[in-house]
Amino acid sequence: MSAPRLLRLTRATRGFTPARAFTRGYATSELKPNLSYLEPTHPDSVVPASTQSLITDHSEYLLNTYVRPPLLFTHGKGLTLTDSSGRQYLDFTAGIAVTALGHSDDGVNKIISEQSSKISHASNIYWNEWAGELAKSLVEKTRQHGGLGLSSTSKKEGGKVFFSNSGTEANEGALKFARAYGKTISEDKTGIVCFTNAFHGRSMGALSVTPNPKYQAPFAPLIPGVRVGEYNDTNVEKIKELIDEKTCGVIVEPIQGEGGVGEGKREWLELVAKRCREVGAVLIYDEIQCGLFRSGTMWAHSEFPLEAQPDIVTMAKPLSNGFPIGAILVRSSIAATISPGMHGTTFGGQPLATAIGVHVISRLSDPTFLKSMKSVSKHLDDLIKRLPVLFPTLLKDEIRGRGLIRGIAFKDETKPGELVRLARERGVLLLTAGKDAVRLVPALVVTEEECDKAMGVIESCLHLMAEKA
Ligand SMILES: Cc1ncc(COP(=O)(O)O)c(C=O)c1O
Repeated sequence: MSAPRLLRLTRATRGFTPARAFTRGYATSELKPNLSYLEPTHPDSVVPASTQSLITDHSEYLLNTYVRPPLLFTHGKGLTLTDSSGRQYLDFTAGIAVTALGHSDDGVNKIISEQSSKISHASNIYWNEWAGELAKSLVEKTRQHGGLGLSSTSKKEGGKVFFSNSGTEANEGALKFARAYGKTISEDKTGIVCFTNAFHGRSMGALSVTPNPKYQAPFAPLIPGVRVGEYNDTNVEKIKELIDEKTCGVIVEPIQGEGGVGEGKREWLELVAKRCREVGAVLIYDEIQCGLFRSGTMWAHSEFPLEAQPDIVTMAKPLSNGFPIGAILVRSSIAATISPGMHGTTFGGQPLATAIGVHVISRLSDPTFLKSMKSVSKHLDDLIKRLPVLFPTLLKDEIRGRGLIRGIAFKDETKPGELVRLARERGVLLLTAGKDAVRLVPALVVTEEECDKAMGVIESCLHLMAEKA
């Protein structure tokens, strides 16, 4: 490791007092991994007999689509999950970037209780009190925080929202809207463009723009007319060839979640957006995982120049803190091409889901909350930056993502799964991402102390892995 690099890192971690640095197991002048968590405290092999028999029984009936450790969570509060034997885990997965306000949040629980005692569902045939409120909140907060090309000083351009029940359905609807818009220009303007490593969901349309053979191959043939470009390839000629006059829609994650927490370079997204405008293609940003304040701003694209902002934004995961919901936020000019009967859903936009959404957005957009989240993200960033320096044989010299969507990139693709297992057996839950990364997507209410614990466990586990290598 070069001396200047170490110096930079020492500076980056300087915010800690010597006492706190000491508890973390390293001296500020010398970087050492935290070795406080070498022994497993939560071995997967310790499973209560009643849980084991429940797993055996339920496996008979549940379709076999997931590989799961023998863990059954019965309670959650904040970032803590409690399993059937009473063991507590620190959850850095947030139910795959969902429970932004933490598990079993009191405010969310109150809304669920109050709203469900009044009315949960009456269908989209009628109006309800909350769908429009949530749509208004999403449009006006986007205008305020930046995104969708909306200006905070002029209401000339507006946005409209369609509510779905999941992220996949939000993308499915967005692709349909792009097709419908394309057809207002020309009957054969139907092509769709997506990018390598993308994950947009598992329904036929969303799967068709998720170019991963593992997910696509069993279900081929998929929908025709999809082209796959190279994520972050700034070659202008290639972008021109990829997105042409026949393209109606381009779908892209500004930060790829499932694909490995790779971040779209702003320069590349500007070129893609420019080309979309040239040929009249609808630009869709899938912010289902990185959006709604996880990246540090409301949208990962909030601070992009207006020209690089999309025509449609899709969202889901944290919008109702775990209650199923998705949404498609559409520029008014594109929304104008959609008329009654063209799209719909039974559950989407029901009063219970959207009442929770209004509460969640008001909490997440609170300036005091955002300030504190930013400061915790910075703390986590300082801790993550240590890793490639401490473990250069295991890790790539890069840190992925921003805010509270972060990736630790491994040189050897067999290692991310091993880190997830080792950390779980020490009471910290993590996710893999793509082929080479471990993903950290904690609830946005995570504290500095919780970051210290999770990163301490990660350092201990990486130390064990480095020793073995
Ligand atoms: C970026 C992105 N798009 C779409 C989806 C699909 O969302 P859902 O699982 O809610 O259908 C996901 C889920 O992980 C995602 O991360």
